[in-house]
Amino acid sequence: MSDYNSELSGFYKLSLEERQALIAKLAHLTPEEVSILKNYGYFNAKELDLLIENIIASYQLPMGVACHFRVNEKDYLIPMVTEEPSVVAAASNAARIARKNGGFNSDKVRSVMISQIQITNLPDVSALDDLFAKKQEILDLANEQDPILKELGGGAFDLKIREIVTHRGNMVILHLKVDVLDAMGANVVNTMAEAISPRIEEICGGKIYLRIVTNLAMERIAKSKAIFDKESLGGEEVVEGILNAYEFARADPYRAATHNKGIMNGIVALTLATGNDTRAIEAGAHAYASLRKFYTPLTHFSTNKKGDLVGEIELPLALGIIGGMTKSHPLARIALKILRVESAGELSQVGAALGLAQNVAALRALVSEGIQKGHMKLHARKVENSK
Ligand code: MEV
Repeated sequence: MSDYNSELSGFYKLSLEERQALIAKLAHLTPEEVSILKNYGYFNAKELDLLIENIIASYQLPMGVACHFRVNEKDYLIPMVTEEPSVVAAASNAARIARKNGGFNSDKVRSVMISQIQITNLPDVSALDDLFAKKQEILDLANEQDPILKELGGGAFDLKIREIVTHRGNMVILHLKVDVLDAMGANVVNTMAEAISPRIEEICGGKIYLRIVTNLAMERIAKSKAIFDKESLGGEEVVEGILNAYEFARADPYRAATHNKGIMNGIVALTLATGNDTRAIEAGAHAYASLRKFYTPLTHFSTNKKGDLVGEIELPLALGIIGGMTKSHPLARIALKILRVESAGELSQVGAALGLAQNVAALRALVSEGIQKGHMKLHARKVENSK
């Protein structure tokens, strides 16, 4: 009879060693497996124990560096954390091609995050006029939650109303807009939204339920563009193939999902390397891709007069360089040092360029030799190595 049982009340109260011992016993881990659990890498046991609840180990993934990137006339070595073997080399290859035409041009990204406040059972919509009459008072109250942000030139700066029709009646959704400067910003906007909600209920009546950031960061859109030389891509046939692949993705959500997955191979690897929230970035990207009638690709392709491929990308990118794990994770700190970005906006500019490069590399492989050849080469190396 197995003693395996998931009902472990008080598990979180155990020490790290006690949790490891209990899991080892229940899962019948071997001494070798337990010693892997105890390999904390760059953390010490005390630091590790503070990171998440119920922690039993430090999970490691490979970190590589993508080369050849030039964004807005500045060179970047881009740290990427990914388990997928061919991603880093693929991004580097596409960046090398883009570099021939000066690299990537990314637009400025302002770090605006939005928190949503869900107002239900509003007695009278005219109450919203009272709310707007007191807009400054509400923004001041929000900014009291983070005076340093305000002092540094950021902070809450606007309120917007959206009315939505739901199966439980009409609701008013208040958007609180906050310039979070160099942070990802979810924590600060959530704190602000929770702090102002009681006052909003007082002013306009109704009942507030959710007060939470939206990951569809519509005011934090990153855009990048690059020209990929026709000959370096493999000639006209490859460019034609990429245009056809793009139209396939535009017309077919089944394909668009995989097209965008390829983009996120790069962006998520950078997000993870810099200690940012990968789920927030994924959620924002896919929601943005769904804003039209159906799910669409996040990149756009055309050709210039010379027949070179012109690639563009556009997606919300809420990446921070302070807060969260960005400064507390030793490798995230090193990743940011390797990148040399000076602001969250600059990190998003690099992220967008990386997503575009990753997409071009994937499409180029798909329309020429196929994706498996590269994968299999690395696989063969692994097999060779394990002999
Ligand atoms: C594999 O991780 C990513 C690709 O499937 C992306 C694509 O199909 O465009 C190669």
